[in-house]
Amino acid sequence: MNLKRSIINHSIDIAKEVIKHYGVHLPPFAYLTTDEWLAAGPDYDEIRDCMLGWDVTDFGSKDFYNIGRVLFTARNGRPNNPLYPKQYAEKWLIDPENQRAPAHFHLSKREDIICRAGGNILVQLTKADPDGNPSSETFTTQVDGCVRRLGPGEIVRLHPGESLTIHPRTIHQFWGEEGTGWEIDGVGYTLSSEISSVCDDLNDNVFLVDYGLRFPEIEEDEARRYYLCHEYPKAESRIIAE
Ligand SMILES: [Fe+2]
Repeated sequence: MNLKRSIINHSIDIAKEVIKHYGVHLPPFAYLTTDEWLAAGPDYDEIRDCMLGWDVTDFGSKDFYNIGRVLFTARNGRPNNPLYPKQYAEKWLIDPENQRAPAHFHLSKREDIICRAGGNILVQLTKADPDGNPSSETFTTQVDGCVRRLGPGEIVRLHPGESLTIHPRTIHQFWGEEGTGWEIDGVGYTLSSEISSVCDDLNDNVFLVDYGLRFPEIEEDEARRYYLCHEYPKAESRIIAE
């Protein structure tokens, strides 16, 4: 089943509620209406071109509540594009308990996962071998600047305030620990963030189980209330110029 627009709308409503509950403030473009986006001129190009903003996806899994993500990208650059030279990125993740992205690693991105508020985040790590398969080797990473030695598939529990570093070619999955987050309708929510080198979602991700899509196929069962980061309308001035 494709991801329904009603589920996307509802997920962002909940994300805003969770973020507010934890006392965090997102930038103003998180709260623009669809009409305001239609009127937004070229001053907003960086948001559109760097695909900042809301990112709700099932990765093509058709199983959003287990394999999916609700993210807000606050900043990013575009590799090899001189218009957008930022070499860093920041994403906020609203984690309903047990929902996770498919296991994957990055070819070049290095990321810190930070448990910001709520319950705990469980992070499972395995080194990738030269062929991109799970390796049986032990390895080290850093948990808040301290060395942590890990075996393949080991899970690290991050409490609020704690973080760890995921180096390139490290297979990872993380999710909110069941029973620890702030509950809405019986589901616990944890807030985490990712601070990383520049994020190139279209070229730098290697999925162990590849559902084929980074962004979802959407069933339009109700009106869109938010533009996702890959859906923004072009600025009026650009349409005229083309
Ligand atoms: Fe990742």
